[in-house]
Amino acid sequence: MARLTPLWTAPPLTDDAAIADFLGARGVAFERWELPAHVSAIAAQDTVTDADKQALLDAFSAKLAAVADGTPYKSADVVAIRPHLPGVDGALARFDRVHRHDDDEIRAIVGGRGIFGFLDDVGRQYLLLIEAGEYISVPAGAWHWFYCDDTKNITALRIFKDAAGWVAHYRDEAAAGGSPA
Ligand SMILES: [Fe+2]
Repeated sequence: MARLTPLWTAPPLTDDAAIADFLGARGVAFERWELPAHVSAIAAQDTVTDADKQALLDAFSAKLAAVADGTPYKSADVVAIRPHLPGVDGALARFDRVHRHDDDEIRAIVGGRGIFGFLDDVGRQYLLLIEAGEYISVPAGAWHWFYCDDTKNITALRIFKDAAGWVAHYRDEAAAGGSPA
């Protein structure tokens, strides 16, 4: 179950509709996707093979088509973060600093969990614990970060125009006059 925590007030939001309203007012889409049993079974595995990944994509073909309808977001793949994978800490460290992308960051979580942090236009911050069965679309240009808890276990569909669009532009580098953000 998602939990949305504004860091300037309490308590956290745990109701889907309230979370969707909060995020929607800030340009972030949030919805619940029902998970078939075989999807949850795959996501519970320690190792997710290429065939498993294709099965996950196939399970959501109608949802993916709906996202792609009338938008450029027509490609999808599957990422499976597991604690035993080589390089996992380095992979996660690419996104745990405040950054933004040229394209929307669209994810459907099918297993495990992670935390999105957001920095809004007036500098306030909020955190979203996102778990299996939850879909999020972070708009292009929105400052955010992402990290996993100590389980380092999350399986997600990534939906994109092309892989270049979600290269991270870091806020600290932009502030220092580095790469364009
Ligand atoms: Fe990101």
